[in-house]
Amino acid sequence: MVRVTPRTRTDEDGRDSALPEVAVQTAATGTDLPLISARSLVKRFGDFVAVDGIDVEVHRGESFGFLGPNGAGKSSTMRMIGCVSPVTDGELNIFGLDPATDGKQIRARMGVVPQLDQLDEQLTVIDNLILYGRYFDIPRAECKRRAAELLEFVQLTERAGSKIEPLSGGMKRRVTIARSLINEPELMLLDEPTTGLDPQARHVLWDRLYRLKQRGVTLVLTTHYMDEAEQLCDRLVVMDQGRIVAHGSPRELIETHSTREVLELRYAAGTNEERADEVAGIGDRQEVLPDRVLIYAHDGEAALGEVHRRGSVPVSALVRRSSLEDVFLRLTGRTLVD
Ligand SMILES: Nc1ncnc2c1ncn2[C@@H]1O[C@H](COP(=O)(O)OP(=O)(O)O)[C@@H](O)[C@H]1O
Ligand SMILES: [Mg+2]
Repeated sequence: MVRVTPRTRTDEDGRDSALPEVAVQTAATGTDLPLISARSLVKRFGDFVAVDGIDVEVHRGESFGFLGPNGAGKSSTMRMIGCVSPVTDGELNIFGLDPATDGKQIRARMGVVPQLDQLDEQLTVIDNLILYGRYFDIPRAECKRRAAELLEFVQLTERAGSKIEPLSGGMKRRVTIARSLINEPELMLLDEPTTGLDPQARHVLWDRLYRLKQRGVTLVLTTHYMDEAEQLCDRLVVMDQGRIVAHGSPRELIETHSTREVLELRYAAGTNEERADEVAGIGDRQEVLPDRVLIYAHDGEAALGEVHRRGSVPVSALVRRSSLEDVFLRLTGRTLVD
């Protein structure tokens, strides 16, 4: 079961502390029912288990992430939540409704950004939005009004009359996001919103998603980028092979599963394995990857001092903060990015 974590604030010493219980209880009166509640949720394709009994609760106003590598079961989960793929086993409730019987009602209150853009290449940008709005039986004049406003929001007003094909990947993503907002959803599902985009396009999208969150839209997203999860998610689950292997805020996950700092050592190609012996026992833990040796330590500089004292000379050395990538490596023995 994913714990319902009270919203946190940052104290002067930089540590998170939970707000008093009373604040949470006040919020619970009436509106704090989870928007999404999954218990022992399973998705099978034939004999293959893509989602293997996951428990998740997402609350109104939060930004919730599924972080995991390709094949973890993120899209399968999102498609069940999006009411386009039937639940194989377990329980799933969205807005307190059952996707098996209330799919249309649920979809009317939800915005969906699928992993691959499914825009109509034959239509202009603005007509893609208007047509989509018509599926929700929103009157045409209202669709037009909203479409213009949404193109403004995703900074594509000047491309309203353009066809889809000439747009960049980042622009198409923004059209899809604008389209998903046409029914003024309370909840947005975003499946790998920035995969394949260049850094600048990703930052534009992050900014738009942040604004949506500030407007009170609940965001549920999947990603295999740990920096995206750290930027956007209040709370996340780490998924691997259909299972949830950890959950919490990015900070909680790093504090629980990693050290404060990491020393990255690079030795000559192909020698990391043997050179790792020279630095064995330094820090709390060591990981030997094909291209580098990672030393997990509270104080990375001190660990590097010890490396030097032992006479070990890496080609390069770098001290950095622990990230969700380190959490994933610790939990699964594998790196996130393939
Ligand atoms: N329609 C399908 N039929 C059979 N297997 C599928 C289908 N969709 C997904 N899978 C398999 O389920 C696993 C999880 O896929 P997916 O949910 O797309 O993972 P992710 O989105 O995390 O990359 C993968 O091994 C994938 O091949
Ligand atoms: Mg996917």
